[in-house]
Amino acid sequence: MDINFSSGQPPENLLGYDIVQDATKALFSKERVLGGNSSPPLAYGDNYEYFSRRIGSLLETECDRQNVNHTLIVPIAGVSNGLDLLCTMLCRNLTKKGIAFVEDYTYFLSISLFEDHGLHVLSLPTDHDGILIEEFRVILENLKEDEEKLPLLLYCIPTFHNPTGRTMSQTRRIQLLDLTQQYSVNVIADEVYQFLGFTDYLPETLIANPKPVSQVTMQSYYPSFASLSPAYSHVMSISSFSKILGPGLRVGWIEFSSPQLKQMFEGLGVIRSGSSICHFASYVSVTSILCPEDFPPEQNQDLSPLQCSQFFRDICPFRRHLHALRTTLAMKYSALLSSLQKYRFKYLSPFGSPYEFLIEGHPSPSSTDPGPSFPVVGGYFLWIYLPEWIGDDLKSHETDCKVHLTSTRLLEIGRSEPYFLNFMLGATCQQSESGVPPRCRKINQTQTRDAVRMCFAKLEIEELEEGGRRFCQLLRDLQP
Ligand SMILES: Cc1ncc(COP(=O)(O)O)c(C=O)c1O
Repeated sequence: MDINFSSGQPPENLLGYDIVQDATKALFSKERVLGGNSSPPLAYGDNYEYFSRRIGSLLETECDRQNVNHTLIVPIAGVSNGLDLLCTMLCRNLTKKGIAFVEDYTYFLSISLFEDHGLHVLSLPTDHDGILIEEFRVILENLKEDEEKLPLLLYCIPTFHNPTGRTMSQTRRIQLLDLTQQYSVNVIADEVYQFLGFTDYLPETLIANPKPVSQVTMQSYYPSFASLSPAYSHVMSISSFSKILGPGLRVGWIEFSSPQLKQMFEGLGVIRSGSSICHFASYVSVTSILCPEDFPPEQNQDLSPLQCSQFFRDICPFRRHLHALRTTLAMKYSALLSSLQKYRFKYLSPFGSPYEFLIEGHPSPSSTDPGPSFPVVGGYFLWIYLPEWIGDDLKSHETDCKVHLTSTRLLEIGRSEPYFLNFMLGATCQQSESGVPPRCRKINQTQTRDAVRMCFAKLEIEELEEGGRRFCQLLRDLQP
């Protein structure tokens, strides 16, 4: 049986078919009040207030926010479409070659999307907490004198990152926004996994101390980038229903941090001509989430914000669905992690040798790298740094370890008998050209290692357990 860790798609049995069916019926019912001047579902979507208000409500309930300014929220046909539209918007009237900065490992399909718009993509170094601020500052300083290039945008995935699973710390978020504001670089934060936090759903044994406060992590702990402070006007948070309801809907949203950016977006030819890019599907998607306005006022009156969010979680089919999704993802994550840890110990001990592989967020007992203070866990991926004897010749120079096998060869062998295992190489998620001059690059234990991405979302528990075992067996069989 093939075990495919490579595909980053949602599990088929957790797509929200029933919810979408009921929402479509409800949307057409005579009683449904859209509010404001909202355009009817089958008309052109000139006015999508109904959509924006309900996304605002979702962000308040799930992200523990208050008074979300819904007038800064617009519909898009998924994150991919939103990225494309934002590039069109930002690249208009450019007189220099625009630079798009990405994290050193990033969503692999974003790179070609930026290149389609003629942008020059440069990668930025990161650690467990996110982008390294001082290194980024050096790059921006160097580019100040460049007459041909313009640092145009930064694309980052701050929460439950694809492919590394990391979540950027709050301090780093603020530092990043300060720096980009100072150098006039637009920030596009891809928050497609933001509702998929499940630290609190994990068995105690898998979480390091101190454990985060449960109430907060039950929800999506980090509010969107665009809402961090009204002081920033250069930020766009982009998210979608792809990972929480179904990617076939092709519905998402952008939350702008300033009305100016939103106006620029609405000035795009494609929006002026066709209005909302996915009007009907966007209405169906937001009808699937119950909101305070769906209830008679007397039912909501005496509830505190926390009670309110609990109330909606209990009675709303969409929120029950989200809860089931997080619980399932947590179980799958635990199954894969436990299997890798168990068989690593069985097949590949001792720890601390070049034979050891490392798991992001879970430093090995022998490691001097403290890692994050606790892993905030969520999303779809486990990120694994391969043993030091796998890699290219360059690595042999940077470490004392002799390279024995390339990671491409590891994958080739892994795909064949008796392993039948597929995973994504870290190199697939990398833009080879780095923004940092080589002499400034920091080398730490994990930065020199090749890595692989394993997606646990789609596979069944037994497949994850068996996949972890096969991966350790593959490494044991090939180790020099
Ligand atoms: C980081 C990231 N951004 C965007 C997407 C695609 O999102 P959408 O389906 O909303 O276009 C994915 C899907 O895997 C993703 O991982």
